[in-house]
Amino acid sequence: MNPKIYMAPMSGITDLSFRLISRKLGATQCFFEMLDANAMMHDHPKNARLQKTLKIDLPLAAQLVGAEPSTMLDAAEKLTSLKDISFLDINSACPAKKILKKGAGAALLKDTARLGKIVKNLASGLRIPVTVKLRSGFDKKDVAECVKTAKVCEANGARVVFIHGRTVSQGYSGDVDYESIKAVKNALKIPVFGSGNIFNHLMAKKMIDETGCDGILVARGGLGNPWIFKNIENYLKNGTIPQTLSLSVKKKVLKEHLACIEKYKEITEANKIGFMGKVTMWYSKGLYNAKRIREHISKVRSYKDLLNLIDRVV
Ligand SMILES: Cc1cc2nc3c(=O)[nH]c(=O)nc-3n(C[C@H](O)[C@H](O)[C@H](O)COP(=O)(O)O)c2cc1C
Repeated sequence: MNPKIYMAPMSGITDLSFRLISRKLGATQCFFEMLDANAMMHDHPKNARLQKTLKIDLPLAAQLVGAEPSTMLDAAEKLTSLKDISFLDINSACPAKKILKKGAGAALLKDTARLGKIVKNLASGLRIPVTVKLRSGFDKKDVAECVKTAKVCEANGARVVFIHGRTVSQGYSGDVDYESIKAVKNALKIPVFGSGNIFNHLMAKKMIDETGCDGILVARGGLGNPWIFKNIENYLKNGTIPQTLSLSVKKKVLKEHLACIEKYKEITEANKIGFMGKVTMWYSKGLYNAKRIREHISKVRSYKDLLNLIDRVV
C-alpha cells in the first residue's frame, strides 16, 4: 500500500505562495483555494486573484462551491478552459453560514438528490475526473448516512471521495470519526481519502491504520510546516523519524515564504503585511518565546520591519 498525500484545500490559506513553498519541500498534489461557482460566472475580480498560478504549480486541482447543477457545470467548464487542472472537486463540506444559506457546501449533505445531480452533471460534462469533499455528518455522527451519501457520489460518477471526519456542528475541533471513513472505504470501489487532525507523521499513520483509506489530506498540519509532506512520506515508506529543524532553517524557509507573498499576493499593502504577520506566527508556533514574538509581529507595519524582526527575535 502506498497512500497518497495531498495538500487539502483551505480558503484563505492555500494561495500560490503557500503552494510554492510546500511543493519545494515535498507537497505534490495541491488545490487552489475554493472557488465560488456564481462568482466564477460573474468574473468577480477576487476569483482571478484566487486563480493565480505558475507553470511549476502543478499538478493542481480546483474545488467549486455552489448549489445549482447547471451553474456548477458552467463554472467548471469555464475554469477548465482557462487552467490546467488535474481534477475538479465539489465542496460538500464547508460549514460557513453564508454558504449553507445558499444550499451549498455542507448543506448538500442534507440534499443528496441535488448533490448527486451536481456530481452527475460535472462527471458527464467534463474531461477531467470529478471528486467530492464530504464531512462525516451534519449534526451528529451517523455512519450509515455517511456511507449512503458517499455511495450517491460514487453512483453519479465521482472518482474519489474525500472525507473530513467531523460533523458540521463540530466545525474544526473535536475527535475525528475514523469509523465513518473506514465504513465508506469498505463500501466504495473508488478511492477514499481521510481528512482531520493530520498534524504530523504519526497522526497520518493513525488515519491510515484506523480507516484503511487510500490517501490523506494534509490541512492545518501544513501551516508553518511545509516539511510535513516529506516527513509523512518518508515515515510511511521506511519509518524514518523526522528531524527537529534548527531555528535558522525555519527562518530561511519563512523568509522565502514571505518573499513569495510579497511577489505574488495581489492585495492592499496593509492587508499584505497583516497576512505576512499571520504566516510568521504559524512558523513561530512552538518557540519558547512565541507569545512575545506575536506581540511584536502585531505591531509591524512594513515588510522590511518584519524581516528585521525575524532576524532579531524569531
Ligand atoms: C482555514 C481553513 C480553511 C478551509 N477551507 C476549506 C475549503 O475551502 N474547502 C474544503 O473542502 N475544506 C476546507 N477546509 C477543511 C480542510 O480541508 C480539512 O478538511 C480540515 O481542516 C480537517 O483537517 P485538519 O484537522 O488536519 O486541519 C478548511 C480548513 C481550514 C482550517
